[in-house]
Amino acid sequence: MRLLLFCLTVFCLFLATACQNPGKTQPSIAKSVFGKLADGREVSRHTLTNGAGVTVQIINYGATVTSLRVPDRNGKMEDVVLGYDSLTEYVNGTSYFGAIVGRYGNRIGKGLFKLDGKQYQLATNDGENHLHGGKIGFNKVLWDAEVLSDSAEPSLQLQYVSHDGEEGYPGTVTLKVTYMLTGKNELRIDYEGTTDQTTILNPTHHSYFNLSGSCTNKILDHSLMIEADSFTPVDKGLITTGQLIPVADTPMDFRTPMAIGARINDSYEQLVFGKGYDHNWVLREGSGQIRKAAELYEPASGRLMTMFTDQPGLQFYSGNFLDGTAKGKNGIAYQHRTGLCLEAQAFPDTPNKPDFPQVTLRPGQVYRQTTIYQFSTK
Ligand code: GLA
Repeated sequence: MRLLLFCLTVFCLFLATACQNPGKTQPSIAKSVFGKLADGREVSRHTLTNGAGVTVQIINYGATVTSLRVPDRNGKMEDVVLGYDSLTEYVNGTSYFGAIVGRYGNRIGKGLFKLDGKQYQLATNDGENHLHGGKIGFNKVLWDAEVLSDSAEPSLQLQYVSHDGEEGYPGTVTLKVTYMLTGKNELRIDYEGTTDQTTILNPTHHSYFNLSGSCTNKILDHSLMIEADSFTPVDKGLITTGQLIPVADTPMDFRTPMAIGARINDSYEQLVFGKGYDHNWVLREGSGQIRKAAELYEPASGRLMTMFTDQPGLQFYSGNFLDGTAKGKNGIAYQHRTGLCLEAQAFPDTPNKPDFPQVTLRPGQVYRQTTIYQFSTK
């Protein structure tokens, strides 16, 4: 009888614990070898898992997110970012899948800018312009990776030291990027940068999201909301003109959730220049504080991504240059508009636009950015 009572108590305790922690996983970080660069250096991959079983994989080549598995409304975990299976493809790729880009995310007209009266010529890699840090930007270098925490909220810090003159930029810059997978199903990215000479710094994260869980689907059915009343128009070369244009009565209006495909092919000049959406939105006031920037929702899976940042701008790029030539994970060729980027940043070509918030970094100052991609369902 006593034994029966004991067994019953143990069983009830087991049930109670199981009910309190449905689907609980032990948070962890696991490390593996992802590949070897031509010069023999090893590239590692860390897999961060949180208590809900959400996982993110990060390689130290380009500080790149290679996979991010989050649940749909039925709890089914699927990968929601584009990427490649092998290191060679990351080395040869031209799409910046999942990487940290910099020193300067987005474009600087003709790669030219002045700082304290001195002119600098950066590498040009997008026609006559400088894009995403140049020919060998932060996405094409090996970072040092260090596990900061493998407990409740696993986090991985990556560091890269960019030498004076790299891609034409002045000063030696040390950038630390910390990826954390929080208990609230957030991928949190904290940046911290310093320099030994006055320079410019404006890094961003370049994941291509497709919340449907299958990258054969276009992102045109995703609905997007951006917390912005204006955007920065561009010229034909995608260089900002220096103006801010209200989004009201234009296809750039995402103040309320709107299907991305609803107006993307309109004959609106900015959409023609961008070949779709490839613009910087001016986030509502609060730059310097972490506030909501955007919401992306995929109706079939129910996945919702809410983005927060302390940056002044948000580049929404609708994957217009994807054309099926990039073969991605599991051999899937990424077709036109099958992934989209939401890049927190300063406004493009800032150093040449004195009215835009500037990104000058001086010795003794610390560059900081926090951007959070939070995943839930509805
Ligand atoms: C950014 C730019 C786009 C394009 C992609 C990479 O988001 O705004 O114009 O260069 O990166 O292909």
